[in-house]
Amino acid sequence: MDLFSPVALGDLKLSNRLVMAPLTRSRSGKDGVPNADVAEYYRQRASLGLIVSEATYSSFAGQGFIRQPGLVTEEQVAGWKKVTDAVHAEGGLIVAQVMHAGRATHTGTTGADHLEAPSAIAVDGQSRTYTGKYDYQVPHALTTEELPRIVEEFVTASRNAIAAGFDGVELHGANGYLLHEFLAPTSNTRTDNYGGSPENRARLVIEVVTAVANAIGAEKTSLRISPEHNIQSVIENDAEDVLATYTALVEGIAPLGLANLSILHRDLAGDLVQSLRKSFGGPVLLNTGFAEITTYEEAARVAAEGWGDAVVVGRPAIANPDLVRRWKEELPLNEPDFATFYTEGPAGYTDYPFWQN
Ligand SMILES: Cc1cc2nc3c(=O)[nH]c(=O)nc-3n(C[C@H](O)[C@H](O)[C@H](O)COP(=O)(O)O)c2cc1C
Repeated sequence: MDLFSPVALGDLKLSNRLVMAPLTRSRSGKDGVPNADVAEYYRQRASLGLIVSEATYSSFAGQGFIRQPGLVTEEQVAGWKKVTDAVHAEGGLIVAQVMHAGRATHTGTTGADHLEAPSAIAVDGQSRTYTGKYDYQVPHALTTEELPRIVEEFVTASRNAIAAGFDGVELHGANGYLLHEFLAPTSNTRTDNYGGSPENRARLVIEVVTAVANAIGAEKTSLRISPEHNIQSVIENDAEDVLATYTALVEGIAPLGLANLSILHRDLAGDLVQSLRKSFGGPVLLNTGFAEITTYEEAARVAAEGWGDAVVVGRPAIANPDLVRRWKEELPLNEPDFATFYTEGPAGYTDYPFWQN
């Protein structure tokens, strides 16, 4: 298959197989409301087959980054509506990535009393807040009784995403945030039904995905995972346990008939990714970039070898609003400016040029 051919993911009919990766850019207000710059940024990138929004928090306690947008308040939903309208006016598709940062944030960012996580184990390192960088705090270990509230927050945020005009939702189960923290034995040392065995560690993620799929429709729901990413002190270095945990997870969600499963892993052709793909049975999105930035050659190889159904592209899409055209016509690329990934204002955000003529 070819990168520029159409593909259906659940309800969504993509005109090409290039998916804009979820990319936190910290351009919204402190109130978590996406502004006109955010709408313009996504509008410019509407020619990608599908846009996955930057991670958007499901509760104030789950906010991960400064100036991150949320899907909690009416104002946030109204702000997102302008973004989705702008993308749709260009003929594009956009789903919301919904996240809870778990312990990988700071109360100086969230404004909450404490962090929420599976177990009271802090991330190693420092978190950036509105007033500077501070050591990660020891989180509150969520009680079994609190978990239905966490599920409900994901459901409400996902309903809010649909109300804001998004074409669907991608639940963030990757990169060391709350759902990923439940999956890994290094961040989850619980002794209730949500810790211990691979099946128990996968339980909360399955419950969240199932509840969201029941609320907004499975064909509009997807999940992103990053097994063995080893990030933010979520370490998964026991290959047998990783396979057992993620197989339990994927087998738990496979009967739902989700829109897609998005997998971030360094070895896309390898046994783990391909075995999860088989267990899932539906469309799989793959991120080829990981440590190294995604190149056209890698993306084209995923398509040519048929390792997945679409390719998720991050940094090249930050720097090239017209990436699909540039890759298709083999035009030169703009280089991403790392220094402006998380800064304020339009510089390094909406001012990357389109190819002229
Ligand atoms: C600036 C930046 C912000 C990111 N924000 C998110 C995010 O909000 N959610 C997420 O799942 N991944 C996030 N990622 C990871 C990307 O989705 C992607 O997996 C990574 O950039 C590797 O792909 P690439 O080489 O094509 O950029 C981010 C990466 C970058 C560079």
